[in-house]
Amino acid sequence: MSFHFRDGYLYCDELRIKDIQEQIPESPFYLYSLRQITENYRAYAAALEGIESIIGYAIKANNNLAILKHLRELGSGAVLVSGNELKMALAAGFDPKRTVLNGNGKTINELIFAAEHGVMINIDSEFDLEHIQQAARKLGKPVGVFIRINPDVDPEVHPYVSTGIKNSKFGIRNEQLHWFLNRIQADPLLNLVGVHCHLGSTIKKISIFRDATALMMQFIEVIRAEGFNLKYLNIGGGLGIDYEKRGEVLPTPADLIDSIRDLLTDEVVLIMEPGRSIIGNSAVFVNRVIGEKTNGNKHFIVIDGSMAELIRPSLYDAYQHIDFIEPIDGEVKTYDVVGPVCESADFLGKDRVLPAPHEGAGLVVYDAGAYCYAMSSNYNLKMRPPEYLVDGDRFIQIRRTETFDDYMRLFDGLT
Ligand code: LLP
Repeated sequence: MSFHFRDGYLYCDELRIKDIQEQIPESPFYLYSLRQITENYRAYAAALEGIESIIGYAIKANNNLAILKHLRELGSGAVLVSGNELKMALAAGFDPKRTVLNGNGKTINELIFAAEHGVMINIDSEFDLEHIQQAARKLGKPVGVFIRINPDVDPEVHPYVSTGIKNSKFGIRNEQLHWFLNRIQADPLLNLVGVHCHLGSTIKKISIFRDATALMMQFIEVIRAEGFNLKYLNIGGGLGIDYEKRGEVLPTPADLIDSIRDLLTDEVVLIMEPGRSIIGNSAVFVNRVIGEKTNGNKHFIVIDGSMAELIRPSLYDAYQHIDFIEPIDGEVKTYDVVGPVCESADFLGKDRVLPAPHEGAGLVVYDAGAYCYAMSSNYNLKMRPPEYLVDGDRFIQIRRTETFDDYMRLFDGLT
Protein backbone atom coordinates (compact mmCIF):
# COMPACT_ATOMS: atom_id res chain seq x y z
CA MET A 1 0.00 0.00 0.00
CA SER A 2 1.33 3.42 -0.91
CA PHE A 3 -0.11 5.13 2.17
CA HIS A 4 1.31 3.74 5.39
CA PHE A 5 2.41 4.86 8.83
CA ARG A 6 5.98 4.90 10.04
CA ASP A 7 6.85 6.20 13.54
CA GLY A 8 3.44 7.84 13.85
CA TYR A 9 3.68 9.72 10.54
CA LEU A 10 1.73 8.96 7.39
CA TYR A 11 3.84 8.35 4.32
CA CYS A 12 3.04 8.36 0.64
CA ASP A 13 5.52 5.83 -0.71
CA GLU A 14 8.94 7.14 0.38
CA LEU A 15 7.79 10.57 1.46
CA ARG A 16 6.45 11.83 4.78
CA ILE A 17 3.24 13.71 4.04
CA LYS A 18 3.91 16.19 6.88
CA ASP A 19 7.14 17.19 5.13
CA ILE A 20 5.26 17.76 1.90
CA GLN A 21 2.63 19.78 3.74
CA GLU A 22 5.32 21.99 5.22
CA GLN A 23 6.99 22.54 1.88
CA ILE A 24 4.01 23.68 -0.12
CA PRO A 25 2.15 26.94 0.28
CA GLU A 26 -1.40 25.70 -0.22
CA SER A 27 -3.86 23.88 2.01
CA PRO A 28 -5.85 21.77 1.44
CA PHE A 29 -4.35 19.78 -1.44
CA TYR A 30 -4.67 16.41 -3.13
CA LEU A 31 -1.71 14.03 -3.06
CA TYR A 32 -1.39 11.07 -5.43
CA SER A 33 0.94 8.10 -5.58
CA LEU A 34 2.13 7.31 -9.07
CA ARG A 35 3.16 3.88 -7.88
CA GLN A 36 -0.35 3.07 -6.68
CA ILE A 37 -1.93 4.18 -9.97
CA THR A 38 0.52 2.00 -11.87
CA GLU A 39 -0.16 -0.99 -9.62
CA ASN A 40 -3.92 -0.60 -9.97
CA TYR A 41 -3.73 -0.42 -13.75
CA ARG A 42 -1.37 -3.39 -13.91
CA ALA A 43 -3.76 -5.45 -11.78
CA TYR A 44 -6.31 -5.14 -14.58
CA ALA A 45 -3.74 -5.70 -17.33
CA ALA A 46 -2.43 -8.85 -15.62
CA ALA A 47 -5.93 -10.17 -14.96
CA LEU A 48 -6.85 -9.72 -18.61
CA GLU A 49 -3.84 -11.53 -19.97
CA GLY A 50 -4.93 -14.00 -22.62
CA ILE A 51 -8.23 -12.19 -23.23
CA GLU A 52 -8.47 -9.82 -26.17
CA SER A 53 -9.54 -6.65 -24.42
CA ILE A 54 -9.44 -2.91 -23.92
CA ILE A 55 -9.14 -1.30 -20.49
CA GLY A 56 -11.09 1.90 -20.97
CA TYR A 57 -10.27 4.11 -18.01
CA ALA A 58 -13.37 6.14 -17.05
CA ILE A 59 -12.08 9.69 -17.29
CA LYS A 60 -15.00 11.02 -15.24
CA ALA A 61 -13.40 9.54 -12.10
CA ASN A 62 -10.35 11.77 -12.37
CA ASN A 63 -9.35 13.88 -15.35
CA ASN A 64 -5.97 15.20 -14.30
CA LEU A 65 -3.89 15.52 -17.48
CA ALA A 66 -0.71 14.08 -15.96
CA ILE A 67 -2.60 11.05 -14.65
CA LEU A 68 -4.31 10.53 -17.99
CA LYS A 69 -0.98 10.66 -19.81
CA HIS A 70 0.46 8.13 -17.40
CA LEU A 71 -2.45 5.73 -17.87
CA ARG A 72 -2.24 6.12 -21.64
CA GLU A 73 1.48 5.31 -21.49
CA LEU A 74 0.65 2.16 -19.52
CA GLY A 75 -1.61 1.10 -22.41
CA SER A 76 -5.01 2.26 -21.24
CA GLY A 77 -7.87 3.29 -23.49
CA ALA A 78 -10.48 5.76 -22.27
CA VAL A 79 -14.22 6.06 -21.86
CA LEU A 80 -15.88 9.41 -22.09
CA VAL A 81 -19.11 11.05 -21.08
CA SER A 82 -18.77 14.45 -22.72
CA GLY A 83 -17.18 16.35 -25.58
CA ASN A 84 -14.80 18.01 -23.15
CA GLU A 85 -13.66 14.63 -21.88
CA LEU A 86 -12.88 13.78 -25.50
CA LYS A 87 -10.84 16.98 -25.81
CA MET A 88 -8.99 16.00 -22.64
CA ALA A 89 -8.41 12.45 -23.91
CA LEU A 90 -6.97 13.86 -27.13
CA ALA A 91 -4.75 16.24 -25.14
CA ALA A 92 -3.47 13.24 -23.18
CA GLY A 93 -2.71 11.40 -26.42
CA PHE A 94 -5.35 8.64 -26.24
CA ASP A 95 -6.19 7.01 -29.55
CA PRO A 96 -9.82 8.13 -30.10
CA LYS A 97 -10.51 4.91 -32.01
CA ARG A 98 -10.01 3.05 -28.74
CA THR A 99 -12.44 5.27 -26.85
CA VAL A 100 -16.17 5.00 -26.22
CA LEU A 101 -18.56 7.91 -25.67
CA ASN A 102 -21.29 7.04 -23.15
CA GLY A 103 -24.13 9.15 -21.83
CA ASN A 104 -27.87 9.55 -21.79
CA GLY A 105 -27.92 13.14 -23.03
CA LYS A 106 -25.17 13.59 -25.60
CA THR A 107 -25.64 16.77 -27.63
CA ILE A 108 -25.50 16.87 -31.40
CA ASN A 109 -22.28 18.90 -31.26
CA GLU A 110 -20.67 16.35 -28.96
CA LEU A 111 -21.77 13.53 -31.27
CA ILE A 112 -20.39 15.24 -34.36
CA PHE A 113 -17.10 15.91 -32.57
CA ALA A 114 -16.88 12.29 -31.43
CA ALA A 115 -17.82 10.85 -34.82
CA GLU A 116 -15.25 13.08 -36.54
CA HIS A 117 -12.54 11.49 -34.41
CA GLY A 118 -13.70 7.91 -34.90
CA VAL A 119 -14.86 7.49 -31.29
CA MET A 120 -17.26 4.59 -30.77
CA ILE A 121 -20.62 5.88 -29.58
CA ASN A 122 -23.02 4.18 -27.20
CA ILE A 123 -26.72 4.40 -28.13
CA ASP A 124 -28.73 5.13 -25.00
CA SER A 125 -32.26 5.80 -26.27
CA GLU A 126 -34.47 6.38 -29.30
CA PHE A 127 -33.64 10.08 -29.47
CA ASP A 128 -29.96 9.37 -28.92
CA LEU A 129 -29.97 7.02 -31.92
CA GLU A 130 -31.69 9.72 -33.98
CA HIS A 131 -29.03 12.24 -32.95
CA ILE A 132 -26.17 9.85 -33.75
CA GLN A 133 -27.72 9.28 -37.18
CA GLN A 134 -27.90 13.04 -37.73
CA ALA A 135 -24.25 13.42 -36.73
CA ALA A 136 -23.17 10.63 -39.09
CA ARG A 137 -25.19 12.13 -41.97
CA LYS A 138 -23.79 15.56 -41.36
CA LEU A 139 -20.24 14.20 -41.56
CA GLY A 140 -21.01 11.65 -44.27
CA LYS A 141 -18.92 9.25 -42.23
CA PRO A 142 -19.70 5.83 -40.77
CA VAL A 143 -19.89 5.59 -36.99
CA GLY A 144 -19.21 2.55 -34.84
CA VAL A 145 -21.99 2.20 -32.28
CA PHE A 146 -22.80 0.22 -29.17
CA ILE A 147 -26.24 -0.45 -27.77
CA ARG A 148 -26.49 0.21 -24.04
CA ILE A 149 -28.54 -2.60 -22.67
CA ASN A 150 -30.12 -2.42 -19.27
CA PRO A 151 -29.47 -5.86 -17.80
CA ASP A 152 -31.72 -5.17 -14.80
CA VAL A 153 -29.22 -6.68 -12.38
CA ASP A 154 -29.26 -5.06 -8.95
CA PRO A 155 -25.72 -4.01 -8.03
CA GLU A 156 -26.65 -3.69 -4.32
CA VAL A 157 -25.15 -0.23 -3.93
CA HIS A 158 -26.33 3.29 -3.03
CA PRO A 159 -29.26 4.21 -5.33
CA TYR A 160 -27.37 7.26 -6.66
CA VAL A 161 -24.64 5.02 -8.11
CA SER A 162 -26.90 2.23 -9.33
CA THR A 163 -27.37 2.37 -13.09
CA GLY A 164 -28.20 -1.05 -14.53
CA ILE A 165 -31.65 -1.59 -13.05
CA LYS A 166 -34.86 -1.25 -14.96
CA ASN A 167 -35.87 2.13 -13.56
CA SER A 168 -32.52 3.73 -14.28
CA LYS A 169 -32.30 6.69 -16.67
CA PHE A 170 -29.57 4.86 -18.61
CA GLY A 171 -29.85 2.44 -21.52
CA ILE A 172 -32.55 1.28 -23.88
CA ARG A 173 -35.70 -0.58 -22.99
CA ASN A 174 -34.73 -4.14 -23.77
CA GLU A 175 -38.15 -4.88 -25.29
CA GLN A 176 -37.21 -2.33 -27.94
CA LEU A 177 -34.01 -4.09 -28.97
CA HIS A 178 -35.39 -5.20 -32.34
CA TRP A 179 -36.61 -1.72 -33.13
CA PHE A 180 -33.05 -0.46 -32.57
CA LEU A 181 -31.54 -3.29 -34.60
CA ASN A 182 -33.85 -2.59 -37.53
CA ARG A 183 -33.00 1.11 -37.47
CA ILE A 184 -29.28 0.39 -37.35
CA GLN A 185 -29.52 -2.19 -40.12
CA ALA A 186 -31.29 0.29 -42.36
CA ASP A 187 -28.66 2.98 -41.88
CA PRO A 188 -25.55 2.49 -44.03
CA LEU A 189 -23.62 4.94 -41.85
CA LEU A 190 -24.13 3.02 -38.61
CA ASN A 191 -21.97 0.05 -37.82
CA LEU A 192 -23.02 -1.89 -34.73
CA VAL A 193 -19.74 -2.91 -33.10
CA GLY A 194 -20.85 -4.04 -29.67
CA VAL A 195 -23.13 -4.11 -26.68
CA HIS A 196 -22.61 -2.25 -23.44
CA CYS A 197 -23.87 -2.34 -19.91
CA HIS A 198 -22.82 -0.62 -16.72
CA LEU A 199 -24.41 -1.90 -13.54
CA GLY A 200 -23.38 0.72 -11.04
CA SER A 201 -20.46 1.75 -8.94
CA THR A 202 -18.81 0.59 -5.67
CA ILE A 203 -19.82 -3.03 -6.39
CA LYS A 204 -18.36 -5.54 -3.96
CA LYS A 205 -20.03 -8.73 -5.10
CA ILE A 206 -18.46 -10.49 -8.04
CA SER A 207 -21.50 -12.64 -8.84
CA ILE A 208 -23.22 -9.45 -10.00
CA PHE A 209 -20.71 -9.06 -12.83
CA ARG A 210 -21.05 -12.71 -13.72
CA ASP A 211 -24.85 -12.53 -13.87
CA ALA A 212 -24.69 -9.47 -16.10
CA THR A 213 -22.03 -10.97 -18.38
CA ALA A 214 -24.06 -14.15 -18.86
CA LEU A 215 -27.06 -12.03 -19.81
CA MET A 216 -25.04 -9.89 -22.17
CA MET A 217 -23.66 -12.97 -23.92
CA GLN A 218 -27.26 -14.00 -24.58
CA PHE A 219 -27.96 -10.59 -26.08
CA ILE A 220 -24.90 -10.96 -28.28
CA GLU A 221 -26.21 -14.28 -29.57
CA VAL A 222 -29.61 -12.79 -30.35
CA ILE A 223 -28.04 -9.84 -32.15
CA ARG A 224 -25.61 -11.98 -34.11
CA ALA A 225 -28.50 -14.16 -35.22
CA GLU A 226 -29.93 -11.03 -36.87
CA GLY A 227 -26.83 -10.85 -39.05
CA PHE A 228 -24.74 -8.33 -37.11
CA ASN A 229 -21.03 -8.85 -36.81
CA LEU A 230 -20.54 -7.74 -33.20
CA LYS A 231 -17.01 -7.41 -31.96
CA TYR A 232 -17.16 -5.93 -28.45
CA LEU A 233 -18.72 -6.85 -25.16
CA ASN A 234 -18.41 -3.84 -22.89
CA ILE A 235 -19.31 -4.67 -19.30
CA GLY A 236 -18.69 -1.19 -17.90
CA GLY A 237 -16.92 -0.36 -14.67
CA GLY A 238 -18.01 -0.43 -11.08
CA LEU A 239 -15.63 -2.52 -9.00
CA GLY A 240 -15.62 -1.23 -5.42
CA ILE A 241 -12.63 -0.33 -3.27
CA ASP A 242 -11.94 -0.60 0.44
CA TYR A 243 -13.15 2.74 1.77
CA GLU A 244 -14.00 1.37 5.21
CA LYS A 245 -10.63 -0.15 6.08
CA ARG A 246 -12.06 -2.71 8.46
CA GLY A 247 -10.04 -5.59 7.12
CA GLU A 248 -12.74 -6.70 4.68
CA VAL A 249 -11.33 -8.70 1.75
CA LEU A 250 -12.63 -7.16 -1.45
CA PRO A 251 -12.67 -8.75 -4.89
CA THR A 252 -9.76 -7.80 -7.13
CA PRO A 253 -9.80 -7.24 -10.89
CA ALA A 254 -8.43 -10.79 -11.20
CA ASP A 255 -11.38 -12.16 -9.17
CA LEU A 256 -13.79 -10.27 -11.39
CA ILE A 257 -12.25 -11.40 -14.66
CA ASP A 258 -11.70 -14.98 -13.55
CA SER A 259 -15.36 -15.14 -12.63
CA ILE A 260 -16.46 -14.34 -16.20
CA ARG A 261 -13.63 -15.91 -18.17
CA ASP A 262 -15.53 -19.10 -19.02
CA LEU A 263 -18.49 -17.09 -20.32
CA LEU A 264 -16.43 -15.26 -22.93
CA THR A 265 -16.03 -16.77 -26.35
CA ASP A 266 -13.10 -16.18 -28.68
CA GLU A 267 -15.18 -14.00 -30.93
CA VAL A 268 -15.69 -11.19 -28.45
CA VAL A 269 -13.26 -8.48 -27.47
CA LEU A 270 -13.91 -7.47 -23.88
CA ILE A 271 -14.05 -3.81 -22.87
CA MET A 272 -13.97 -2.80 -19.22
CA GLU A 273 -14.51 0.72 -17.97
CA PRO A 274 -12.93 0.96 -14.53
CA GLY A 275 -12.62 4.35 -12.88
CA ARG A 276 -12.63 4.11 -9.08
CA SER A 277 -10.66 0.85 -8.90
CA ILE A 278 -7.83 2.41 -10.95
CA ILE A 279 -7.57 5.78 -9.26
CA GLY A 280 -9.60 5.78 -6.02
CA ASN A 281 -7.03 4.56 -3.48
CA SER A 282 -4.14 6.37 -5.15
CA ALA A 283 -4.74 9.70 -3.40
CA VAL A 284 -5.41 11.40 -0.10
CA PHE A 285 -6.94 14.80 0.47
CA VAL A 286 -4.61 16.64 2.85
CA ASN A 287 -6.02 19.29 5.20
CA ARG A 288 -5.02 21.39 8.17
CA VAL A 289 -7.02 21.69 11.37
CA ILE A 290 -8.43 25.18 11.84
CA GLY A 291 -9.82 24.46 15.29
CA GLU A 292 -11.74 22.15 17.58
CA LYS A 293 -15.11 23.00 19.15
CA THR A 294 -17.98 21.46 21.02
CA ASN A 295 -21.65 22.30 21.44
CA GLY A 296 -21.78 20.48 24.75
CA ASN A 297 -23.09 17.32 23.11
CA LYS A 298 -21.10 16.92 20.00
CA HIS A 299 -17.48 17.59 19.22
CA PHE A 300 -16.25 18.99 15.95
CA ILE A 301 -12.89 19.15 14.27
CA VAL A 302 -13.00 22.01 11.76
CA ILE A 303 -10.58 21.66 8.86
CA ASP A 304 -9.80 23.88 5.89
CA GLY A 305 -11.07 21.36 3.32
CA SER A 306 -14.80 20.97 2.81
CA MET A 307 -17.65 19.63 0.71
CA ALA A 308 -16.54 22.07 -1.98
CA GLU A 309 -13.34 20.10 -2.58
CA LEU A 310 -14.69 16.65 -1.66
CA ILE A 311 -18.44 16.16 -1.75
CA ARG A 312 -18.90 12.39 -1.56
CA PRO A 313 -19.65 12.21 2.18
CA SER A 314 -22.21 15.05 1.91
CA LEU A 315 -23.79 13.78 -1.28
CA TYR A 316 -23.95 10.03 -0.73
CA ASP A 317 -23.29 9.80 2.97
CA ALA A 318 -20.18 7.98 1.75
CA TYR A 319 -17.61 6.82 4.26
CA GLN A 320 -14.03 7.85 3.58
CA HIS A 321 -11.52 7.05 6.24
CA ILE A 322 -9.83 9.90 8.14
CA ASP A 323 -6.52 10.01 10.01
CA PHE A 324 -4.02 12.52 11.25
CA ILE A 325 -0.75 12.49 9.35
CA GLU A 326 1.35 13.05 12.50
CA PRO A 327 1.36 11.90 16.13
CA ILE A 328 -1.38 13.66 18.13
CA ASP A 329 -1.71 12.99 21.84
CA GLY A 330 -4.89 14.91 22.77
CA GLU A 331 -7.84 13.36 24.57
CA VAL A 332 -9.69 10.86 22.39
CA LYS A 333 -13.29 11.85 21.56
CA THR A 334 -15.95 11.14 19.00
CA TYR A 335 -15.88 13.92 16.42
CA ASP A 336 -17.62 15.09 13.33
CA VAL A 337 -14.93 16.30 10.96
CA VAL A 338 -16.38 19.32 9.19
CA GLY A 339 -15.33 22.06 6.80
CA PRO A 340 -15.84 25.83 6.89
CA VAL A 341 -18.63 25.90 4.31
CA CYS A 342 -21.88 27.50 5.46
CA GLU A 343 -24.03 24.41 5.20
CA SER A 344 -24.83 21.68 7.70
CA ALA A 345 -24.17 19.05 5.06
CA ASP A 346 -20.56 20.15 5.00
CA PHE A 347 -18.83 17.24 6.65
CA LEU A 348 -16.03 14.91 5.64
CA GLY A 349 -16.70 12.34 8.32
CA LYS A 350 -19.16 11.72 11.13
CA ASP A 351 -18.66 10.06 14.51
CA ARG A 352 -14.94 9.51 14.11
CA VAL A 353 -12.97 8.51 17.16
CA LEU A 354 -9.88 10.72 17.09
CA PRO A 355 -7.53 12.48 19.51
CA ALA A 356 -8.08 16.20 20.07
CA PRO A 357 -5.76 17.91 17.60
CA HIS A 358 -3.79 21.13 17.83
CA GLU A 359 -4.38 23.94 15.38
CA GLY A 360 -2.56 23.31 12.13
CA ALA A 361 -2.40 19.52 12.57
CA GLY A 362 -2.44 17.61 9.28
CA LEU A 363 -5.47 15.42 8.58
CA VAL A 364 -6.17 13.27 5.54
CA VAL A 365 -9.27 11.91 3.93
CA TYR A 366 -8.28 8.65 2.26
CA ASP A 367 -9.33 7.17 -1.07
CA ALA A 368 -9.66 10.60 -2.58
CA GLY A 369 -8.50 9.74 -6.11
CA ALA A 370 -11.89 9.02 -7.68
CA TYR A 371 -14.87 11.38 -7.88
CA CYS A 372 -13.32 13.81 -5.42
CA TYR A 373 -11.40 16.51 -7.27
CA ALA A 374 -13.56 15.66 -10.30
CA MET A 375 -16.72 16.63 -8.38
CA SER A 376 -15.30 19.69 -6.62
CA SER A 377 -16.98 23.08 -6.84
CA ASN A 378 -16.49 26.74 -6.02
CA TYR A 379 -19.24 26.77 -3.42
CA ASN A 380 -18.68 29.56 -0.89
CA LEU A 381 -16.11 30.81 -3.39
CA LYS A 382 -13.64 28.20 -2.35
CA MET A 383 -11.05 27.81 -5.07
CA ARG A 384 -10.17 24.36 -6.32
CA PRO A 385 -7.10 22.95 -4.56
CA PRO A 386 -3.82 21.99 -6.20
CA GLU A 387 -2.80 18.40 -6.91
CA TYR A 388 0.60 16.87 -6.22
CA LEU A 389 2.03 13.54 -7.24
CA VAL A 390 4.59 11.43 -5.45
CA ASP A 391 6.90 9.63 -7.84
CA GLY A 392 9.28 7.48 -5.78
CA ASP A 393 11.28 9.83 -3.58
CA ARG A 394 10.18 13.14 -5.13
CA PHE A 395 6.93 14.98 -5.52
CA ILE A 396 5.73 17.26 -8.28
CA GLN A 397 2.76 19.54 -8.80
CA ILE A 398 0.33 18.13 -11.37
CA ARG A 399 -2.36 20.81 -11.12
CA ARG A 400 -1.91 24.29 -9.88
CA THR A 401 -4.31 25.81 -7.43
CA GLU A 402 -7.24 27.72 -8.86
CA THR A 403 -6.93 31.39 -7.94
CA PHE A 404 -9.45 34.11 -7.33
CA ASP A 405 -8.11 35.81 -10.48
CA ASP A 406 -8.93 32.66 -12.49
CA TYR A 407 -12.45 32.92 -11.19
CA MET A 408 -12.80 36.65 -11.89
CA ARG A 409 -11.75 36.04 -15.49
CA LEU A 410 -15.22 34.59 -16.09
CA PHE A 411 -16.53 38.14 -15.76
CA ASP A 412 -13.89 39.81 -17.96
CA GLY A 413 -15.46 42.29 -20.34
CA LEU A 414 -18.94 41.86 -18.88
CA THR A 415 -19.12 44.65 -16.35
N1 LLP B 1 -18.79 3.37 -17.17
C1 LLP B 1 -19.93 4.08 -17.04
C2 LLP B 1 -20.90 4.06 -18.12
C3 LLP B 1 -20.17 4.80 -15.86
O1 LLP B 1 -21.31 5.47 -15.73
C4 LLP B 1 -19.21 4.79 -14.82
C5 LLP B 1 -19.44 5.53 -13.58
C6 LLP B 1 -18.02 4.05 -15.02
C7 LLP B 1 -17.85 3.35 -16.20
C8 LLP B 1 -16.94 3.98 -13.97
O2 LLP B 1 -17.40 3.36 -12.82
P1 LLP B 1 -16.41 3.03 -11.60
O3 LLP B 1 -15.46 1.94 -12.06
O4 LLP B 1 -15.64 4.28 -11.32
O5 LLP B 1 -17.29 2.64 -10.50
N2 LLP B 1 -19.79 9.96 -8.20
C9 LLP B 1 -20.03 8.62 -7.70
C10 LLP B 1 -19.74 7.58 -8.74
C11 LLP B 1 -20.56 7.75 -9.98
C12 LLP B 1 -20.17 6.74 -11.01
C13 LLP B 1 -20.88 6.96 -12.24
N3 LLP B 1 -20.54 6.09 -13.31
C14 LLP B 1 -19.18 8.42 -6.45
O6 LLP B 1 -18.50 9.35 -6.04
O7 LLP B 1 -19.20 7.35 -5.85
